[in-house]
Amino acid sequence: MTATLEEKTLRLGDTAPDFKADTTEGSINFHEWAGDNWVVFFSHPKDFTPVCTTELGAVAKLGDDWKKRGVKVLALSVDSVEDHKKWIGDIEETQNVKINFPIIGDKDRSIAMSYGMIHPEALATATVRTVFVIDPAKKVRLYITYPAPTGRNFNEILRVVDALQLTDKHAVATPVNWKNGDDCIVVPSLSDEEAKKKFPKGFKTLKPYLRITPQPEG
Ligand code: BEZ
Repeated sequence: MTATLEEKTLRLGDTAPDFKADTTEGSINFHEWAGDNWVVFFSHPKDFTPVCTTELGAVAKLGDDWKKRGVKVLALSVDSVEDHKKWIGDIEETQNVKINFPIIGDKDRSIAMSYGMIHPEALATATVRTVFVIDPAKKVRLYITYPAPTGRNFNEILRVVDALQLTDKHAVATPVNWKNGDDCIVVPSLSDEEAKKKFPKGFKTLKPYLRITPQPEG
């Protein structure tokens, strides 16, 4: 089957497209709204659906965790802002939390299409569960797409934001299942001499390409 609307494919490193949108917190221009923050921008298939209800509640409960990392959160579905506002009442009631981020109403699917959030073979008219992490330079740093019946783990998104922010600040990468505070990997592009200067706590060389250092501070 061929998609009737033209879908954009975004890749890591691409500039996240700018757009104007109506949201539950008024109208926004995306780049201006994002400012110098990191952004977690995620789509969900439909209002008044069970998995989405739990997801939006969970994202709101992580409000302080987003804030601590300088992250602004933005949600989208192809329903209307009016419907979102009605649904927020249900989310707040059942998930016991106040929704503290805007939800875009994208009835004409134009924003969803520009972010590749519609996968016609999976869900013809709704957005799939895509989540983007966008950095302050508006570059796409992560995107993951989940199938509609599978709720996301937003603690994993927080973990990736921690890893990306650490990588941007220090010349380290993060190993499998890394979490904040764990040992890191010295990036292969750094010589031993450079690494000695950069990592005063030192590093352990398991292989010339596999050097472990305690997580840099600050
Ligand atoms: C849900 O959010 O529960 C859902 C949405 C679309 C398809 C399946 C489940």
